Amino acid sequence: MSKKVSINYNDQNFELDLVKGSENENGIDISSLRNSANLITLDPGFKNTGSCKSSITFLDGEKGILRYRGYSIEDLAKNANFLEVAFLLIYGELPNKSQLDKLIFDINENAIIDEDLKKILEGFPKSAHPMGILSSLTSALIAFNPEKKISLNNNNGDENDYMYNSIVKLLAKIPILIAWVHRRRKGLSLDYGDYSLGYVQNITKMMFQLPNQEYSENDIIVNAMNKLLILHADHEQNCSTSTVRIVGSSEASLFASVSAGISALWGRLHGGANQAVLEMLEAIKNDGGDTKKFMLKAKDKSDPFRLMGFGHRVYKNFDPRAKIIKVAAHEVLKDLGIDDPILDIAKSLEIEALDDPYFTSRKLYPNVDFYSGIIYKALKIPKEMFTVMFALGRLPGWIAHWREMRMNNDPIGRPRQIYTGENHRDFISLKKR
Ligand code: ACO
Repeated sequence: MSKKVSINYNDQNFELDLVKGSENENGIDISSLRNSANLITLDPGFKNTGSCKSSITFLDGEKGILRYRGYSIEDLAKNANFLEVAFLLIYGELPNKSQLDKLIFDINENAIIDEDLKKILEGFPKSAHPMGILSSLTSALIAFNPEKKISLNNNNGDENDYMYNSIVKLLAKIPILIAWVHRRRKGLSLDYGDYSLGYVQNITKMMFQLPNQEYSENDIIVNAMNKLLILHADHEQNCSTSTVRIVGSSEASLFASVSAGISALWGRLHGGANQAVLEMLEAIKNDGGDTKKFMLKAKDKSDPFRLMGFGHRVYKNFDPRAKIIKVAAHEVLKDLGIDDPILDIAKSLEIEALDDPYFTSRKLYPNVDFYSGIIYKALKIPKEMFTVMFALGRLPGWIAHWREMRMNNDPIGRPRQIYTGENHRDFISLKKR
C-alpha cells in the first residue's frame, strides 16, 4: 500500500500521497491541496520543491554523489568522451558503436550555419558579452531552421524525426557559434571545423586554429576540455535547466528554450560564477595576495562581497565535480608548464575557508566553478568566454531535460503566489492625485 502524509488544517485531515524516488528520496505530492483545502505551498527560490519527476541525473548533496543515468561522474569524467555522455543523458543508455557513429554522422551533416547569421554576429558591438551574443544567435537559429511542430501527444512514447533533427542540429551548430563568437573577439576568420576530427577535437580546432597555420592537436587541451564538458553536462533541476524546462513546457521550440537557458546560466550566482571567480582571484593577486582580507570581506554581512565559487544550493558536503576539477587544474598547469600564482591563491582560500566556522557551519565548499576558470585560463580561453564553455558542456543536459519534459507530456509550468499587495480600491483621477 502506498504511504500517505497527513496534514491537519482547520480541524480537517488531508491525506497526501508520498512519492518515492529510485534512490529512496521522498516527496509529498501536494497537488490536491489547492482543491481539497484551498492551500498552496510557499517556497521562494524552490529551495525544497520538486518540480518534476526525472530519470536523468541523481545527486545527493549530503554525500557528494553525482550520477548521470546511474553512472558516477568520476567514472564518466575518467573514461567517457563528451558525445557518449551527451547520448547517455539524452537517450538514457550509453551508445553502442553504430548509435554513436550515426550521431556523429548526423551532427557532421548539420554542421553548417546560414552565412546570414554572420551578419547578425557582425552587428554586435565588440564589447558585447559572449553570453548575450550566444543566447541571441541561438534564438536567431530558429529563423534559419524553422521547426516543424513537435507533437508528442500520441501518448505512445514515440519520438518523431523532428525532435531528433532539432537535437542533432543544436549539437552541431552551437559549437560553431561558440567558436565564431570567440574568433570574432580575436579578429580571426569565421570558419567551419574539420569533421574528420572528434567532436571535442573539432571544437578546439575551430576555436584556436590560427590563419595559415597547420593545426596540431594538443592532447592535454583536448582531454581537459573533454573532462570539463562532461563535468558540466547536467546537474538536474538547476536554474538554467529549470528555465529550459519551463520555457519548453509552453511548447516553445528546443532552440528557444535553450536560448533562455543560456541567459539563465549567465548570472554570476549560477554559471557566470566561473568568470567571477577568476576576476576575484586576479583582484586578490593585484591587491597583494592577502587572502585573509578577502575572507573577512566574505564574512562581513555589510559587505556585498561573496567568495565566488563557494557554496551551493544542494551540495552540503562537497561538490564532487570541484574535486575532479581541482586535480585536473594541477595536471593541466603541470603538463602545459604553467606556474600560475592564481592557483596558489585559490588553494589558500580553500584551506582557510574549510577551517573557518563561518564557512563550515553554513556548509560552504568549493563548487564546480572554483577551479574551472584556472583551467580555461591555462587553455588560453578569455574570461568572458568561460560561461560560454559552461553552456557548451550543459547543452546535452538542457536537451535531455527538454526532451524528457516533452516525452512525459509534462504540464505547462506555472507556479502560484501569495499576494501581498493592496486590497481592492477605486481609481483616483489624475486631478485628485
Ligand atoms: N560567500 C560568503 N557567504 C556565502 C556564500 C559565499 N560564496 N554563499 C553563501 N553564503 C552564506 C549566505 O550569506 C548565507 O548566510 P546567512 O545564513 O548568514 O544568511 C548562507 O551562506 C546561505 O547562503 P544562501 O545564499 O542562502 O544559499 P543559496 O542556496 O540561496 O545560494 C549560492 C547558493 C547562490 C550558490 C551561493 O552559495 C552563492 O552566492 N555562491 C557564490 C556564487 C557561486 O559560486 N555560484 C555558483 C554556484 S554553482 C553553479 O551554479 C554552477
